[in-house]
Amino acid sequence: MLLKIAVGCDHTGIEHLNELKKYLSEVSLEYGIEEVVELNGEDYPEVALSAANAVSSHTTDRAVLICGTGIGMCIAANKVKGIRAAVCNTPELAAISRKHNDSNIIAIGARLITPSLIPQIIEKWLSTDFEGGRHAERLNKISAVEENPLSLKYGKSGERLTIFDHPLIQHKVAMIRNKNTSVKDFRDLIQEITSLMVYEITRYLPTVPIKVETPLAITDAVACEGRSLAIVPIIRAGIGMVEGILQLIPNAKVGHIGLYRDTETLNPIEYYCKLPDDVNEREILILDPMLATGGSAVAGIELIKKHGGQKISFVCIIAAPEGITKVHEEHPDVHIYTATLDSHLNDHGYIVPGLGDAGDRLFGTE
Ligand code: PRP
Ligand code: URA
Repeated sequence: MLLKIAVGCDHTGIEHLNELKKYLSEVSLEYGIEEVVELNGEDYPEVALSAANAVSSHTTDRAVLICGTGIGMCIAANKVKGIRAAVCNTPELAAISRKHNDSNIIAIGARLITPSLIPQIIEKWLSTDFEGGRHAERLNKISAVEENPLSLKYGKSGERLTIFDHPLIQHKVAMIRNKNTSVKDFRDLIQEITSLMVYEITRYLPTVPIKVETPLAITDAVACEGRSLAIVPIIRAGIGMVEGILQLIPNAKVGHIGLYRDTETLNPIEYYCKLPDDVNEREILILDPMLATGGSAVAGIELIKKHGGQKISFVCIIAAPEGITKVHEEHPDVHIYTATLDSHLNDHGYIVPGLGDAGDRLFGTE
């Protein structure tokens, strides 16, 4: 494989950088180095961040950065997703950073080593392969946090939690929280938020190849396999989310589950269940704007599993940490999508700050 390597330094590393460029041109054939790109910047953060962006976006394969100690470059580069930068001021560290950490950037300290050590460090770094195995498993844990920072807070279950930070969604969530929002606006907003969330939720929906005739030619295209989706609102409040999905995926089948929370015990009481016959073959989205204690969600998931449903996600608009933990403890296979994550539940099991009783606000029964 041909390598593109970015190099850069701050004011302390000019002599070392010259040695580095000289060495890389001497060994370019040996290590398949196709191109060495020199990056400039006002100070080490600019140099490190432009190198890290180049590596992260695959514009270049690796980078070598030089500042006083290597530490500043390393800290800055590691802010960018996909970067595994290591300070390597000895050949041994350079080799280990490849073997164990699959380092794609190394940072070197010009105040700590002489330029003459540069070739030895780079030689080890270029000639050592990543060992994979247990080291790959460890790196996967770090990547999981990059993909979804909540995996830190929720451990492994954070990998099955998506919180939508899109400004439009957050803007509309602020409006439904407002106690002065009218029933009509509340209803419209719940639908709009659900539609916006569907973009991400259906990312893995199967597609089928189709042919389309444009005014100019027949071309290959893809269509969503809408028939493979079932949406199951939990009555009442989940009903408010249905249209937001059907407007985009009209072929989806709709099941219904009726549950209400006992006001004393907060336990869900089932009063209705009608699911599509082929629920076992479909991707299932359970809809309910509120995930509070998690009792209703868990009961809904259990009902669907009892009827053969397997590929289940839970879609809500406001979630409490208590509900997320309960669903993930009892149904670790279920992915939760929520527009926002609130602080806690009050003594009556209501989400704080929340929006009050979602069913009442949707149907004007307050
Ligand atoms: C609300 C909400 C959920 C449930 C969430 O329904 O729509 O279904 O509470 O709370 P939980 O996570 O603690 O179970 P509610 O029981 O008020 O019934 P409704 O939709 O008929 O008003
Ligand atoms: N159900 C609601 O409608 N709101 C809450 O805050 C909790 C449960």
